[in-house]
Amino acid sequence: MSSPATPLSRNPHLLRWVNKVAILCKPAAIHWVDGSPSEYDALCARMVVDGTFIKLNQKKWPGCYLARSDASDVARVEDRTFICSLSKEAAGATNNWVNPFEMRKTLKARFNGCMRGRTMYVLPFSMGVPGSPMSQIGVELTDSPYVVVNMRIMARIGREVFKLIDADFKRVVPCVHSVGAPLMPGQKDVAWPCNKEKYIVHFPETREIWSYGSGYGGNALLGKKCFALRIASAIARDEGWMAEHMLILGVEDPQSRKTYVAAAFPSACGKTNFAMLIPPRHYQRQGWKIWTVGDDIAWLRPDSKGRLRAINPEAGFFGVAPGTGAHTNPSAMRSLARNTIFTNVALTDDGGVWWEGMTKEPPAHAIDWKGHDWTPAIGREKGHPAAHPNARFTAPARQCPSIDPEWEDPQGVPIHGIIFGGRRATTMPLVFQAFSWTHGIYVGATMGSEMTAAAAGTIGKVRRDPMAMLPFCGYDMGDYFQHWVNMQQALHEPPPVFHVNWFRKDQDGKFIWPGFSENMRVLQWIVDRIQGRGRAMNTPIGWMPRHRDIDWTGLDFPVEKFEELQQVDRAAWKAEIIGQGELFFDLHASMPRELSYEREMLISRIRA
Ligand code: GTP
Ligand code: SPV
Ligand code: MN
Repeated sequence: MSSPATPLSRNPHLLRWVNKVAILCKPAAIHWVDGSPSEYDALCARMVVDGTFIKLNQKKWPGCYLARSDASDVARVEDRTFICSLSKEAAGATNNWVNPFEMRKTLKARFNGCMRGRTMYVLPFSMGVPGSPMSQIGVELTDSPYVVVNMRIMARIGREVFKLIDADFKRVVPCVHSVGAPLMPGQKDVAWPCNKEKYIVHFPETREIWSYGSGYGGNALLGKKCFALRIASAIARDEGWMAEHMLILGVEDPQSRKTYVAAAFPSACGKTNFAMLIPPRHYQRQGWKIWTVGDDIAWLRPDSKGRLRAINPEAGFFGVAPGTGAHTNPSAMRSLARNTIFTNVALTDDGGVWWEGMTKEPPAHAIDWKGHDWTPAIGREKGHPAAHPNARFTAPARQCPSIDPEWEDPQGVPIHGIIFGGRRATTMPLVFQAFSWTHGIYVGATMGSEMTAAAAGTIGKVRRDPMAMLPFCGYDMGDYFQHWVNMQQALHEPPPVFHVNWFRKDQDGKFIWPGFSENMRVLQWIVDRIQGRGRAMNTPIGWMPRHRDIDWTGLDFPVEKFEELQQVDRAAWKAEIIGQGELFFDLHASMPRELSYEREMLISRIRA
């Protein structure tokens, strides 16, 4: 067996770059990642010895590990995320911009010697199946073995990717990641090294990513948000395709016809759950079935006939644990039953894992995500949850029982409809359909949502999150809307656009809509509309189903409750439109005129 220090690529550009970064970061060793199962097992075993991983009870949780992060490193850090385009205008008003020359100086200082005492892994990855015309390749240099093993689940990595890099000299997106915690000689490592100071930096023009100080999720698994959304959105604009924060699912109807939709909901707003929906029994008996293609990111491209097609560039799910249980998302539970890495969930006395919402009855005792004793009484009295609200599971997508047979089709699946949705306690109805493609873009662009634990910040505050891309668009948001408008020219038949909200609350603060598998009723109406057989009424905000347009078999949901859920309150909409105005103000320089006209028309309809 050759040593991991032996380069696995002959590509001179790659070799030169690896050498350059090593000279800067000064790691103690270099490890070329081959992606093999034995390498994965060895890295996990090493992390168990070092205290980063806890091996779970292998009888109950085969191939599963638990990691606990530092308490200060638990989510994406949006205020430390930077888009360093040459001009501030190119990054736009919604992104943090720093002059790229200045940022390079800052990074050089931070990365100088930052990997001392650690191994630098050379991790090649393909977003999308290797060799697909819709795929993109990156190489992440990281000093975190946790990142390497997570990336092995989330992306296609290893030898086959080096082969592609060597064969066609394909353009590679260079990604450098450090936890920012060099080890001095003799210094003992901690279980979760990280740095108080964090930088998540993107150079969209040179297509580069530099990440410093965090080991968690989207901050560190650079193929995900940094590459597949921020850098890819910039590539996509230049090349005429789209990189979106969307799940992809296929709806099989009783006639065995499949309708695929892509849906953009902000972080922790229900993408994974919707992508794995299991229809209510009555639907199952009729022959309805949902197939999962992806749960977080979609790359969409018009084919030669002008039909929109999409791939899921990822290979795994980095899913929110709390709220995931056998009664809400059984497919996710089966996906994470083995070969899964859990981060910041609780450890049970029998060597298993638990989180809020996994079972109705909590365990009598557990070790919480901070490593402290936890009982339901502590949970109640101190308000300490056993699992962090942004605790996650990293699970292979192929383990999902509803994974679509076409999910790895190199050409992608056809997309027949697009759904936007936010987390809104008021104002937004359960579902409506936009009048047109540009109205649909308006609906997506003005989307609002309450903030969640997926990012550091104020939880519960409503903010504008256009197309669920506010933290993920690699360039000016107005230009991004313009790109959506322009896409119509490449599309033979632009897909119909819908908006959903599973989270409207009644006066007592309770969700009005049962959600989860009952979302199938809404999805059926959406599919019926796409297929030209669903009925709807024309309202000021769009096409809406009446109570009688939805199949209620097996659910007691009276007309009055449905009307409360679907209500378009003119006073609330006036406030909503004024709230949307902030976005138009901030993005005034680049906001497409089409959207200003849509705003005018919406105001006219609401006032009428
Ligand atoms: P990211 O991975 O951060 O992008 O999140 P996501 O959009 O995939 O969200 P996910 O499906 O993990 O859901 C996040 C939270 O919303 C979980 O706590 C779910 O239990 C909850 N949730 C999902 N769907 C529904 C629903 O239909 N109704 C209600 N009330 N809650 C839901
Ligand atoms: C999100 O926040 O939208 C996620 C989790 O999917 S992370 O990978 O951390 O971005
Ligand atoms: Mn996400």
